[in-house]
Amino acid sequence: MSGNISFLKDVELGLSNKPKFISSHYFYDKAGDVLFQQIMEMPEYYLTNSEMEIFREQSETIIEAFSMVPTEEFELIELGAGDGKKTQHLLQALLQKEYNFKYIPVDISANSLQVISGRLRNLFPGLNIETRQGEYFQVLDALFRSPNPKVIMFIGSNLGNMVDEVAVQFLAKISRHLKSGEKLLLGLDLMKSAEIILPAYNDAAGITRDFNLNLLKRINREFGADFNIAEFEHVPEYDESEGIAKSYLKSTKAQKVFIRDLGRSFDFDEGEKIHTEISRKYNDMILNDLMKGTSLEIEQKFLDSRKYFADYIINKQ
Ligand SMILES: C[S@@+](CC[C@H](N)C(=O)[O-])C[C@H]1O[C@@H](n2cnc3c(N)ncnc32)[C@H](O)[C@@H]1O
Repeated sequence: MSGNISFLKDVELGLSNKPKFISSHYFYDKAGDVLFQQIMEMPEYYLTNSEMEIFREQSETIIEAFSMVPTEEFELIELGAGDGKKTQHLLQALLQKEYNFKYIPVDISANSLQVISGRLRNLFPGLNIETRQGEYFQVLDALFRSPNPKVIMFIGSNLGNMVDEVAVQFLAKISRHLKSGEKLLLGLDLMKSAEIILPAYNDAAGITRDFNLNLLKRINREFGADFNIAEFEHVPEYDESEGIAKSYLKSTKAQKVFIRDLGRSFDFDEGEKIHTEISRKYNDMILNDLMKGTSLEIEQKFLDSRKYFADYIINKQ
């Protein structure tokens, strides 16, 4: 059998369900990583520019908010690090202020980690960096075996890809792991009108469409499936009252898709959708609700000039 077994199991589970779904973390194979870098360059994708502005302009204040003693070694753990282009502003500020720290980028994509470590080692030869490949939930337990003080970074509104119930479990887990006074730097996309949000998931150049469809190509490549990509459409939706952007892949006709490694086929009705991604938008109230029952509290908030995006410093009480 080719490919990754848990991915194959999740494909079977998701395509057998009504409504059909596949988790967004499977977007990120080598082709998906490249497409996501391109999405971040799209003029409609305001998330990256907004958070980049916060890091470019406010990194010095953000690192002060970590409340770390420069001479005492700490670990800066970044979950879902991607290309690390925003984080490099923060790393530069920490190096300039001569903090004693190890940067630990965590990502499910081995390819992303290879790219990020190559680039950062080149840029900052003195940087102490150790990559960890794996799924956030699984890697966290192992990382917290070390006794060093820690700051966790979870930026790019990655939390928004989790349904609220999972986000609650995730934040509770971080709360259990952090020691009193340690911080979580949490970057979240803020609630705003559909005219701004929807184009971010439907760029005119069609890169987000290709990113979504790459999931089907990946299943074809890795598991010998016969998805006809031309018969599926990228469908983004955003409901302002709910505050959640959703992406789907819609079958444009009734059809059967065979997956060789599962030895079975799946029926699609005309117009039937596979739910592939959610991107929740936030405000302080929603975040406080998600953290209820944990020992986490909002300590500071850094905004970009348009107030589209927020990087929160969350303190463990
Ligand atoms: C939307 S990108 C954001 C990257 C970066 N944080 C930024 O703000 O530019 C999400 C990154 O998280 C990784 N990722 C997604 N789901 C993951 C999971 N469950 N566990 C570990 N990494 C994951 C992806 O491979 C990808 O590099």
